[in-house]
Amino acid sequence: MIIAVDGPTASGKGTIAMALAKHFGLPHLDTGLLYRAVGRQVELIGGDADNGENALAACEFPEGLLSDDILRSESTGSLASRVSVHPAVRQALYERQRAFATQSGGAVLDGRDIGTVIAPEAEVKLFVTASVQARAHRRHAEMLGRGLSVRLEDIEADLARRDARDMNRADAPLKPAPDALLFDTTSFSREQAIEAAIEVVQGMLR
Ligand code: DC
Repeated sequence: MIIAVDGPTASGKGTIAMALAKHFGLPHLDTGLLYRAVGRQVELIGGDADNGENALAACEFPEGLLSDDILRSESTGSLASRVSVHPAVRQALYERQRAFATQSGGAVLDGRDIGTVIAPEAEVKLFVTASVQARAHRRHAEMLGRGLSVRLEDIEADLARRDARDMNRADAPLKPAPDALLFDTTSFSREQAIEAAIEVVQGMLR
């Protein structure tokens, strides 16, 4: 069984994907991490994230980079959004994601285009959303918890910018697959979102 969990930044899709993977005993891939690694690598090689050739060269990042904490920073998230616009980058990361999705026994993947491009055949497709304000509050609390001081308004503005870029790019834009179930977490706590998602998926499999 393939479970595709798509949605914008800080919608709760990562938390939900991880919980579903645990509940159904499936391996999980956070595909945003791959784009974040490319974004970080482009910076490390002194390239420009908006340049397609530089971004493609950065797809050859060392595996160890995937566990670097810096990938979780807002600035790397922004670079990831910029490199993800280039079709050559998306193509370079396709096989790895496709192989993970189609491994025997199934998998859970979260990202932006899992249900539309990477695994259109997925048995379960969730499109997780939440208001920009709710997402900014969550990201703000998470960053404060990590000892980082950032302004809520700056986070909100950055999220809105990334949403616009992710939704308006020509190649594999962020949008729900026609057969995806929309799952709005705006008024849910983390625990409520997890519980509701498991229930929804169980319902879909019955
Ligand atoms: O989910 P995230 O915030 O870690 O993703 C970072 C960026 O990577 C996001 O702004 C767009 C890009 N991305 C993508 O284009 N396709 C995916 N499947 C996952 C992420």
